Amino acid sequence: MKLKIGVVGLGIGQVHLRYYQKMPEVELAGVVDTNPDILNQVSRDFSVRPFSSVEQFIREAKPDGVSLCTPPASHLPLSRILAKAGIHILCEKPMAPTAADCEKMIEICQRNKVFLMLGFKKRFSPTYQFLKENFAGEFGPAKWLLAKFALGRVTKKWFWEEKDGGGPIMENTVHMVDLLHFLVGKVELVFAVGGNLFMPEFAPQIDTAIFTLRFTSGAIAGVGAGYASEWGFAREELSFATEKVAGQVSDAFDRPEKLEYIFRSKPAEVYQKRFENSDGFEGEIRHFIECVKNGTEPVVNGEHGLAALKLCQAVKKSIRQGKPVLLNKD
Ligand SMILES: NC(=O)c1ccc[n+]([C@@H]2O[C@H](COP(=O)([O-])OP(=O)(O)OC[C@H]3O[C@@H](n4cnc5c(N)ncnc54)[C@H](O)[C@@H]3O)[C@@H](O)[C@H]2O)c1
Repeated sequence: MKLKIGVVGLGIGQVHLRYYQKMPEVELAGVVDTNPDILNQVSRDFSVRPFSSVEQFIREAKPDGVSLCTPPASHLPLSRILAKAGIHILCEKPMAPTAADCEKMIEICQRNKVFLMLGFKKRFSPTYQFLKENFAGEFGPAKWLLAKFALGRVTKKWFWEEKDGGGPIMENTVHMVDLLHFLVGKVELVFAVGGNLFMPEFAPQIDTAIFTLRFTSGAIAGVGAGYASEWGFAREELSFATEKVAGQVSDAFDRPEKLEYIFRSKPAEVYQKRFENSDGFEGEIRHFIECVKNGTEPVVNGEHGLAALKLCQAVKKSIRQGKPVLLNKD
């Protein structure tokens, strides 16, 4: 029998739909959006039944799983409704505007025995999966990392509101923060500088930051992030060094296709690789469906969403206080 899957929120939700549509084991059970124009357009484009509320969708379509792709302030109230109806959730990042909301989401999903997977697509990027495997193997652990992850202009109001998207650091840098958790581990110290440098219309929201991290392993990282680019030019770069290898991932923003590296023992030879589907979206959607089909826990969940949110909050706190912030002190 096919799995009945729906999408709530039809901005980036349309990308989720595109991948679900390609999967023979999935029946698109419905789409939900509070904006009737978007709802009707997407319903026509994907030949899927439209619903103007999550409650009506649950009642009439009885889905097994849902991609929750609305702005972050709505993630807690909507996941409460979905979890109580026994529906598994793939929640877009950032998980919610506050740690308290994230903790409530984790508790509600556990209590109702549904999965709460987080949409941290970079964990499913074959480029970064190659690095993860090799940091645990031939390359040895990463000890030094430098990320450039500056995005183009976003003017959606909710994106900038402290009680919703929380600005570019919460909304977007959270992807890089989760990737660093995935590749390196827990962070114990953050020191950030930044502020509202480019978007006075959204002041005092922080729009850009440069920050350093020290991991509990002793590894160190630097990250340049926020609205410091434009879409026609935005790049994603992650340089790294281990005891044995130095290398760099690079290409267009959210498309980290290219990897180059060199073994310190063979300095004349530069290795190069290219990876397809490097944004990780397809792997993320496939993983969610596998989990719902087989009843297996997602590899990325609410705890990861909460940890990434806390680190983004620490970056903003460090900027506002002008001093380092300690994390994971227990
Ligand atoms: N993983 C990624 O690469 C990626 C990319 C973009 C956005 N996102 C995340 O996805 C979420 C949505 O971002 P977006 O860019 O698609 O936003 P958007 O504003 O383009 O779209 C959100 C949609 O949700 C609808 N909506 C709002 N509240 C609703 C509710 N209560 N019930 C039903 N529909 C509702 C809106 O009408 C709108 O159509 C955010 O959390 C964002 O960070 C992730």
